[in-house]
Amino acid sequence: MLNFELYNPTNYVFGKDQMQKLATLVPKGSKILLAYGGGSIFKNNVHAQVIKYLDGFEIIEFGGIEPNPRFETLMNAVEIVKKEKITFILAVGGGSVIDGVKFISGATHYEGNHMDILKNRVLFTDLSKVIPFGVVLTLPATGSEMNSGSVVTIEATKEKLVLGGSALFPKFSICDPTVIASLPKRQLENGVVDAYTHVMEQYLTYPHDAILQDRIAESILQTLVEIGPSVVENPTDYKLASNFMWCATMALNGLIQKGVPSDWATHMIGHELTALYEIDHARTLAVIAPSLYKVMFETKKDKLAQYGERIFNVSGKSVEEKAEQAIEKTIEFLHKMGMQTKLSDYTPDYEKTADFIVNRFQERKWVALGEKQNITLEKVKEIVEMSY
Ligand code: NZQ
Ligand code: ZN
Repeated sequence: MLNFELYNPTNYVFGKDQMQKLATLVPKGSKILLAYGGGSIFKNNVHAQVIKYLDGFEIIEFGGIEPNPRFETLMNAVEIVKKEKITFILAVGGGSVIDGVKFISGATHYEGNHMDILKNRVLFTDLSKVIPFGVVLTLPATGSEMNSGSVVTIEATKEKLVLGGSALFPKFSICDPTVIASLPKRQLENGVVDAYTHVMEQYLTYPHDAILQDRIAESILQTLVEIGPSVVENPTDYKLASNFMWCATMALNGLIQKGVPSDWATHMIGHELTALYEIDHARTLAVIAPSLYKVMFETKKDKLAQYGERIFNVSGKSVEEKAEQAIEKTIEFLHKMGMQTKLSDYTPDYEKTADFIVNRFQERKWVALGEKQNITLEKVKEIVEMSY
């Protein structure tokens, strides 16, 4: 097993009626910026509950954080935080609102060009230089409620870039599974597939000696295969909703990444598809992942075979046969979860996509991706073209 440090300071507050703990979780006397997205929180009563349970606090609201949050929008919030001397931010929403708040938290005291936070992948590690924040989660998917990563899009350049650092963990995250009842089916499907792919990025590499990590990762995958198709049909079923929400958090709160190699190339390529065509994050992963497994077959086949046997009960005479079946089973699952797995299903203008992405990666000097750093730009081109 590789050496690791496991640091996760987020107070994870899970279950029904947990929003009433807000007043004790937010530091006394805070001046709060309540940040939210396009307004779903007004329709499902989450906003009303938050306001009720924060009675007595001074609150300023900032709405309009887009899905795939925009740098330009978030900078408006940074100005408000400074002008109003905000001392605590509450993110009420899905991954986009939470990620947006992480950016606002770090950017407020950042000296220099704020765009460099994204262009240079700044890591925020000094707690005294960020605005503390908490979360009321409304969409299980990204794991952002219990990690310190964030993905922000620069509208001007159509680039989707990441930031993070140990100072950007939420102080607390209230995760009430009943909130998923109001999610459109498309977002529920996205949530399951995003969480599934997060596990795959950290698991589907090559055989190594972190036995427990493999078993934890596999248990999340198995749970998502078991409940995914039903939870999107029955989001009010508490058993399904609660297991789904916990899976999504566990998939990306840092635990399964410890001691193991990880890939993340599906996400890196997928982010480009969202930046270019505004395809939902999870749907870009469903487009790229199957091709990536095929192009990187030699590197991944042993782990693919293990995954196929343990998750889908595949059997076969050789590693190759089992690995191929594992890829087919994965595609079947993605289709079952409402995903289309070809880029041409989403845009008629796909033909120059591979060259565009390769050029971008070259400009950023991202010339070797994946767990073995053997996903070269030629391979990236092959993966994207295979996804057309
Ligand atoms: O904006 P509102 O009106 O709230 O509506 C949202 C939005 O339209 C809606 N929604 C959320 N909760 C709802 C609801 N509608 C009804 N009822 C509810 N309870 O759902 C839509 C999508 O929301 P969004 O936050 O964009 O979705 P998601 O949670 O999937 O987040 C996606 C973003 O997270 C990034 C993605 O790249 C993307 O920008 N990611 C962040 C990661 C991280 N920080 O660790 C990792 C991920 O891999 C991912 O890259
Ligand atoms: Zn993701």
